[in-house]
Amino acid sequence: MCIRRRSLRAGACARYTRGMAFGCGKVILLGEHSVVYGRPALAASLASMGAEASAEPWPHARLEVEPWGVAFDVDAEQEEQPADAMQRAFRALLAGYGKPWPRARVRVQLSIPGAAGLGGSAALSVAVVRALDALRGSERTPEAVAAAALAAEYVFHGTPSGIDTAMAAGSGVALFRKDAPLEQVALERPLTLVVGHSGEVGQTKITVASVKQQYQRDPKKLEQTFGAIEALVLNARSALQHGDVADLGKLMSENQKLLNTLLLSTSRLEEMCKATENAGALGAKLTGGGGGGCMIALCAGPELAGPVLEALRKLGRDAFLVQVQP
Ligand code: PMV
Repeated sequence: MCIRRRSLRAGACARYTRGMAFGCGKVILLGEHSVVYGRPALAASLASMGAEASAEPWPHARLEVEPWGVAFDVDAEQEEQPADAMQRAFRALLAGYGKPWPRARVRVQLSIPGAAGLGGSAALSVAVVRALDALRGSERTPEAVAAAALAAEYVFHGTPSGIDTAMAAGSGVALFRKDAPLEQVALERPLTLVVGHSGEVGQTKITVASVKQQYQRDPKKLEQTFGAIEALVLNARSALQHGDVADLGKLMSENQKLLNTLLLSTSRLEEMCKATENAGALGAKLTGGGGGGCMIALCAGPELAGPVLEALRKLGRDAFLVQVQP
């Protein structure tokens, strides 16, 4: 295999070699769910965590995903859709290349847990698209890669806003709004986040459907909540730009209260947020779909993250540190 390292643009997420590719995980700093309804959200790509994929010529299309133990061959002639979501998602990505579908064995190694609110499925989809592109000797912008990967997100999530694929193909911190160009946010200084896993499965498709049901019952009330979240998001962008992490933390905690009113939090996530704030975090909230999965706690710096990590571990939760670089 010809090894070719070339940057799509400055950013750790753009690392890939011919036939090999990467898709980033992500955390949503503020604005999940309301982003599905056209409001803005702030998110950070996780440059060192995500999905790494390689593609090689093969007699037919095949996908293998570790550590999920996924391995299947694709019958391009099969007309009815398979029951398995991963198979339908892979077929959707292959269909994006037109007939005949690429004949390639795609192997993916994931370094983030699934159903955790860290954008695992989008990281996987972006890595697969980049690996297939690289094998075919083609190259697309991060926006075009994200758009191609969205076909699989429709299968996994139903009505994705597109934030996950945009961040999986992108880098750094950005303000995302549906159907608008991604706006990079220049950070004044690195962001220190502790990510804690509740140990509960967070099914984004289910929580998105629950918010939709609430919206259908009372659109006015939901629009009010989304409007309040939008104000927090826009304030958080300016706090980020000014390096005001204390303010950012407060805004994140306010966002958590609103997410809780949308029934997206769990008692375990609430307990984790409280424990990290008591241990010195500047703010804490769930991240991603909610209903389980992960929460994030903002720290003033890596040297102050120890007690926050410790507080989560005392509760029996897995936790790790993430540094988002300017
Ligand atoms: O749970 P995740 O990592 O897939 O994040 C979902 C984010 C939502 O805003 C809830 C859904 C979306 O498509 O934007």
